[in-house]
Amino acid sequence: MIKPDQINVGDSVVVLWEANPKGHGSVKANRINGVKVSKIVLPDNKITGLKPKPGETWACRVVRISNKKSETRGTIVVQPVTLQIECTFTGVFVKPDTARLMSIVLQNREKNLFLEGDQGCGKSTISRAVAKELGWEFRLVSCGLIKKFIYMHGRYLPKAEGDRMGFAWVDSKLSESLREANAKPDREFLVMFDEYTRMDEDARDALLDVIEGKVRELRLVNGDVIPVPPNVHFMAAGNAGASFTVKREDAAAKDRWVIIKIDYMPQAEEVAHCLRKYEGSPRKEVEMAVVIINSLRQLRFDARARLSKAVSTRAAENVAMLLANGVSLEIALETAVTNQFSGNASDRTTEAGVVAKAIEEKLAQLRAA
Ligand SMILES: Nc1ncnc2c1ncn2[C@@H]1O[C@H](COP(=O)(O)OP(=O)(O)OP(=O)(O)O)[C@@H](O)[C@H]1O
Ligand SMILES: [Mg+2]
Repeated sequence: MIKPDQINVGDSVVVLWEANPKGHGSVKANRINGVKVSKIVLPDNKITGLKPKPGETWACRVVRISNKKSETRGTIVVQPVTLQIECTFTGVFVKPDTARLMSIVLQNREKNLFLEGDQGCGKSTISRAVAKELGWEFRLVSCGLIKKFIYMHGRYLPKAEGDRMGFAWVDSKLSESLREANAKPDREFLVMFDEYTRMDEDARDALLDVIEGKVRELRLVNGDVIPVPPNVHFMAAGNAGASFTVKREDAAAKDRWVIIKIDYMPQAEEVAHCLRKYEGSPRKEVEMAVVIINSLRQLRFDARARLSKAVSTRAAENVAMLLANGVSLEIALETAVTNQFSGNASDRTTEAGVVAKAIEEKLAQLRAA
């Protein structure tokens, strides 16, 4: 049992909420950090508007302790800060620490989350899984399609008006999602700018004013102004590299994103993932393929090879798919991995040739073992 004098205003605590029979839809708790407390614990949602539901665990901050003189009467009032989510997901691998970090950043309304990682390491998959766990609506903006500034807002598309041809405004995914969030204030929305590094640079710069600032709004070129309501959370995902604007030494831009790095899944997880996806694939060969793929990932940092990109989990899946259909390991690796690189497998002066040679050597080594 925790006594009230062991708790102070300002403390960070973890609370598992249960239904409060005294108030419709409201919650209460009689435990803090998993230990029983002698006063009732109640949430104060006036400042943040965050409303925990029964069964949810939240990180909270103690804001008030009433009836100081009594040990058992009165309340400990806490302000909910972040919902704690289950950090393991079926079918999706993400380090629990990473999922926890993501969940904290996403729930902080002043911060935006940037997931950085090589292609096919699971950025899109993980974002969707975390949004689902938080119970939020997930809206994906494909930044690869935003090749012109105006596409971020929407488009004027040709439309027949009687016997004349006119133009009608069509919202972009971003505009549409913001309007939807304004219309549904009781739902939380995660707007994810996927493939952020492929977005038109002017659109990217203009976005910075949308994702941060006291008055957040999207001023459309058609004259509409869509406010960014507090139930909208932004995140982005992209590959590291020269075109990664956030990485430029632009302190103001960088500061608007909390950058979390994602790695490829550990070897054993990737094997399990491929075997789940392609059930008929031979385990031993999938294991060898994943070992080879991981050695190729290392080649990116090898001064002699310096491959321009990593081998993605998609490529590992493709090897498993081919293996499940009776294709030999050599052909599967060449098709799904080597062919991803420019040049020719037989030309050792090209990247494809370098990769083919590395695969050949590693395969021989694995088979001899
Ligand atoms: N951590 C992971 N957990 C589950 N599946 C994964 C994971 N990483 C990759 N995958 C699988 O690999 C494929 C690519 O994943 P995803 O599209 O999420 O990667 P990405 O990082 O968004 O790639 P890109 O940089 O090309 O956008 C998907 O089929 C996905 O199922
Ligand atoms: Mg992606």
